[in-house]
Amino acid sequence: MTKILMVCLGNICRSPLAEGILKSKLSNNFLVDSAGTANYHTGSQPDPRSIAVARKHGLEISHLKGRQFTANDFDTFDYIYAMDQSNYLNVIRLARNEDDRNKVEMILNLVHPNQDYDVPDPYYGGDQGFENVYQMLDEACDIIAERLS
Ligand code: 4NP
Repeated sequence: MTKILMVCLGNICRSPLAEGILKSKLSNNFLVDSAGTANYHTGSQPDPRSIAVARKHGLEISHLKGRQFTANDFDTFDYIYAMDQSNYLNVIRLARNEDDRNKVEMILNLVHPNQDYDVPDPYYGGDQGFENVYQMLDEACDIIAERLS
């Protein structure tokens, strides 16, 4: 089974949305999960604004629970997608070897190769920020699903 992990900072805004979007594009032969590099939202539901934007697009993510990324995730997952450069560096810092490092990629590099564009953190903004994040992730997840299926 191919396993994909989405990573952001808090695991309540961007990565749970990415998890829900990618799951909706893949069969049950794939495992999709998400995690945050920080631990301050461990056990929390996604942000209400992420739940709302997901529902607007027909996805339910309210059952997801925040958790922190750990080095063990390198053993479990085949592909690890970071939402921004800070998340990327925090994940890379925990990599133990070249195999670990090779699993990690900035998610928007699928859409804009080698540009290292961030999925902007929408936490301190308004609802439009969450819709923008949804659209960026939807485009990237289309490419992930196309490559894996
Ligand atoms: P996320 O957004 O990394 O997309 O889940 C954030 C959520 C919470 C915080 C920062 C970013 N925070 O500082 O609590």
